[in-house]
Amino acid sequence: MIVPDRHDPRTVGDATWAVHGGNAVDGGSGAIRTPIIMANAYLLPDDPSGIDWSNPEQLLYTRTTGANQQALEAKLAAMDGGAAAAVFASGVAALHGVFFCFLASGDHAIVSDVAYEATWRLFTELLPAKYGIEATFVDTSDLDAVRSALRPNTRLIHTEVIANPTTRVADITELAGIAHNAGAVLSVDSTFSPPPLYRPLADGADLVVHSLTKYINGHGDAMGGAVIGSAADIATLRHDALTDVGGVISPFNAWLIMRGSVTLPLRLAQHQANAQRIAEFLAGDPRVAFVEYPGLSSHAQHDLALRQFGRRGFGGMLAFALAGDGELQNRFVARLRVITSAVSLGHDESLIVHVGPTGRGGWEHYPEHFRRFGHLRLSVGLEDADDLIADLRQALDAVMPAGGA
Ligand SMILES: Cc1ncc(COP(=O)(O)O)c(C=O)c1O
Repeated sequence: MIVPDRHDPRTVGDATWAVHGGNAVDGGSGAIRTPIIMANAYLLPDDPSGIDWSNPEQLLYTRTTGANQQALEAKLAAMDGGAAAAVFASGVAALHGVFFCFLASGDHAIVSDVAYEATWRLFTELLPAKYGIEATFVDTSDLDAVRSALRPNTRLIHTEVIANPTTRVADITELAGIAHNAGAVLSVDSTFSPPPLYRPLADGADLVVHSLTKYINGHGDAMGGAVIGSAADIATLRHDALTDVGGVISPFNAWLIMRGSVTLPLRLAQHQANAQRIAEFLAGDPRVAFVEYPGLSSHAQHDLALRQFGRRGFGGMLAFALAGDGELQNRFVARLRVITSAVSLGHDESLIVHVGPTGRGGWEHYPEHFRRFGHLRLSVGLEDADDLIADLRQALDAVMPAGGA
């Protein structure tokens, strides 16, 4: 029999680790929660001459590391089944850290042709112009296209597990095989599929990136990012992308995210149950032009999602559009009374954003229906599903009464 120990993630379940992981009794006060240490520096020993000033494990200076960063890193590493984690000021700082550390001038990357806006701009403009890094954009659900894009200098393949905003699902086991055969690294942005829904390292990914701003914090009040991977890779990120580039998270935000993540497994279950019901409701209404949600059997990668996520769910994000023009989508959003019109996702409250057909970088790679109608990206929150469905229904009835818009 395994004796459960809240300090040993190998002996406890997801919910227990979410509550206790990374937390320690404070040696000074005896407080049972790691306190917020809002200090830029830590006391040096009487003789500091032996100190390795850039050791990212040493509590010395908060840009290098700090007590709240270390607590959050310990929690996140085990949550994703990785050896180590590095936390950053935002998800984009974490993504940039990966690209900055694992690519160099003259290298080539294969990047999903549907990806978060900043990833798109980094690979279309900034990294090629500033560092001479080349990128080929491919549909990462088309494994032959990925293989065909390989070059002798391909060093990195990067994809989102569930793509923002189309919800296309990538096969991480297959992509890891392709990357490793070519001597490249697979980095995946798993922001839409946090643990316990999915752990990409177990399927062969080398580096997992999360925007902590989203589900892992979950309360819409703190920004952060994380990369989880091997001890050696994370040490590289800490040395190069944190200590010497400086995208460090505030201790306060690290503490908030630590607190928010306590309820991650519970929240995720609710996000997913609500999302499935809403996706089915929208899919059943003829006024809705399309709904993309990996939990619908109509989704192009539904079988892959079932296999890959092992029936643990399909996330809380969906994309849809009403059968009409952009002005109709705007009027619909304006009528919503429970769901908030705002960017971001994974918050406690439901958030919707209307993005026109050509509103984002890389839109020309989106499926035809996204380009025709634009899309509404819905981050399904923790409200009662009945309230969310009633809200969507009353807004639909208001802008598309029976008999036409
Ligand atoms: C998939 C994905 N990755 C990364 C990010 C960036 O995260 P942050 O806003 O924390 O920088 C976002 C933000 O929306 C995202 O959706």
